[in-house]
Parts: sequence; structure tokens; C-alpha cells
Amino acid sequence: MKKVLFVCLGNICRSPMAEAAFRHLLEREGWSDKITVDSAGTGDWHLGKPPHEGTRKLLDHHGIGYSGMLARQVCERDFFSFDYIVCMDSQNQLDVMKWLPKQITKKAEVFKFMDLLPERGFADVPDPYYSGNFEEVYELVEAGCLRLLEKIKADLSS
Ligand code: 4NP
Repeated sequence: MKKVLFVCLGNICRSPMAEAAFRHLLEREGWSDKITVDSAGTGDWHLGKPPHEGTRKLLDHHGIGYSGMLARQVCERDFFSFDYIVCMDSQNQLDVMKWLPKQITKKAEVFKFMDLLPERGFADVPDPYYSGNFEEVYELVEAGCLRLLEKIKADLSS
């Protein structure tokens, strides 16, 4: 069993979109019993809130469920319970590392979502909370989730 955690700032726009899209992909491809997925935010402004309306609209449009998903904040325990912590942007990655206790070996591999799509040539998934452009995020999320599944399959077979 491998466990994936997507992380963004508010846990209402990008990381819940990735969580729902990746779970949908796992179900479609028959990997749900081997890989689990969750998401969290580095900030605490939206704790307990469902995904942003823009994310919900996009997920609805693509027939992807998100019921029961509520924002939570990253915590120290996440470094030990997850195998992959996938950060939606560079600042999220820096902030996530603040939760990592010093001198303790973590289990999680921490990397950026855009590391999965190096050919795109940019570092961060743009934040639609400010841009309003949820479509461009969905397009990246869809492509990156396919790559993530390939990466985990490769890790499981090595
Ligand atoms: P997210 O977007 O990190 O993709 O969920 C944001 C959500 C909320 C805020 C910023 C970004 N905020 O400042 O409240």
C-alpha cells in the first residue's frame, strides 16, 4: 500500500482537485486497493471547508466525486504516514518542511507536482484562488496524476 498526500496553501483549490482527480484515476485503473490519497493545506484559514466553488465546478464537469472532502492542515504526523507528499508550488514545499521534526528520519518523499511534468518548463501549479483560472489547473492536474501513477507503479515494482 502506498499513500499520497497533495499539499497546497488553502487546501480548497489545487490540492483537493488533485486528490479527487487522482482518486478517480486510481478507481478507473483499478489501483484503489494499493494506493490511497489525501490532501492538506499549509495554511489554516479554511479548515473544515469543502473545496472552492471553482474546483467543485471543474470536478462536476468531469464527473469526478469529492463528497466528504474537507480542508485540513499539514501536520508532523504526515511525514511518517505518507509515502509521497506532493506540493503544488515551491512555497508550499518550503512551508511543508517546517513541519518536519529535526533529526528524525521521515518516511515521505517530498517533491513538487510540476516535477512530474518537467517538459512544461515551470516550477509551480498556478494558484486559481488568485487567477480564477481553474481550467489550466485541471489540465495540469490531469496530466500530472497520470505521471504520478506511473511513478508509483515503477516504485512498487523496483
Ligand atoms: P489553494 O488556493 O492553495 O490552491 O487552495 C488558495 C486558497 C485560499 C487562499 C490562498 C490560496 N487564501 O489566501 O485564503
